[in-house]
Amino acid sequence: MTDISVNYMGLKLCSPVMAASSGLTAQLDRVAEFEKAGVGAIVVKSLFEEQIVNEAEFLQSQSHDYPESADYLHHYLRQNSIDRYLELVTAVKRKVSVPVIASINCYSAGEWTQFAKEIEGAGADGLELNIYSLPLNIYKKSDEIEREYLNVVEKVSRQIKIPVAVKIASTFTNLPGFVNGLKAHGAKGVVMFNRFYSPDIDIKRVRVFPADAFSSPEESLRELRWMGIVSALVPGIDLSASTGVHNGTIALKQILAGASTVQMCTALYKKGADSIAQAVADINLFMDTQGFSSVEEFRGKLNYSNIENPGKFERVQFMKTFGNKV
Ligand SMILES: Cc1cc2nc3c(=O)[nH]c(=O)nc-3n(C[C@H](O)[C@H](O)[C@H](O)COP(=O)(O)O)c2cc1C
Repeated sequence: MTDISVNYMGLKLCSPVMAASSGLTAQLDRVAEFEKAGVGAIVVKSLFEEQIVNEAEFLQSQSHDYPESADYLHHYLRQNSIDRYLELVTAVKRKVSVPVIASINCYSAGEWTQFAKEIEGAGADGLELNIYSLPLNIYKKSDEIEREYLNVVEKVSRQIKIPVAVKIASTFTNLPGFVNGLKAHGAKGVVMFNRFYSPDIDIKRVRVFPADAFSSPEESLRELRWMGIVSALVPGIDLSASTGVHNGTIALKQILAGASTVQMCTALYKKGADSIAQAVADINLFMDTQGFSSVEEFRGKLNYSNIENPGKFERVQFMKTFGNKV
């Protein structure tokens, strides 16, 4: 009997296929479908640091004449956003028996970090921090930005006992070094990578518009390189693949490269819970065919340290001869 259970940040998951944070994981009927299809864990829709701070600041700006009421609104609104989110986490937790990971989308180690304790109290099994701020200050050093990320992770990890994962962008100068830093500051998992809205340009109307919110399967190749390299160079931290995981084949590639889990989002929007069931079936079939009795037996089998020619992960430039062949 094939066992596709995995360990992710100390949590026991019945399968490596997770539902990524999105609007779908804020819907109780959907998370129940995902569980039935064999999902290993649910990452709940994020609460945004920005959302709390901006709403509160907007209301404050509307009430200059009554500073006391502004203070009251600030407090009321913040508490309300928080309470609504905690109710969501508790409701998802009641609905499913797989681990539930709450998510906060943040960019600073501000006051909001106290909120992590309340999430833990609401019953979340883990917390995913989606940290990102678009760098627009040309005088700010990248080291300073990375330090801010590490501060958030440290501040949050110190307050809670549940494991903390960090969902990151792929755009760090030294990605393995940065992941190693996240580990040293308390992260138990890293989600590689977040996918952002991109601006696109409509040349007919000569205007900028938001590009497709959904990924294509080819996008998973970018994280495949880093999954292979980071899993080899930074042992002792669990990696979860996100972006472009549309099916079981892509999930298996990420696991062979070193991922402990994979996260699906676009596939769930496009094909619903069936994409989870199909990926789980594909993983089972692969293991049966290849004679693996646990995921751990093949996880990282093809990572940077385990393949004969690690240069395959290092090749980045198109050399002249290779370019001519293309
Ligand atoms: C409609 C939509 C909503 C999303 N909401 C969140 C969110 O609240 N928090 C978060 O961390 N990621 C969010 N994401 C990003 C996904 O979790 C995921 O990382 C990204 O879509 C890449 O995975 P995919 O290729 O499977 O879509 C959202 C993505 C989409 C398309």
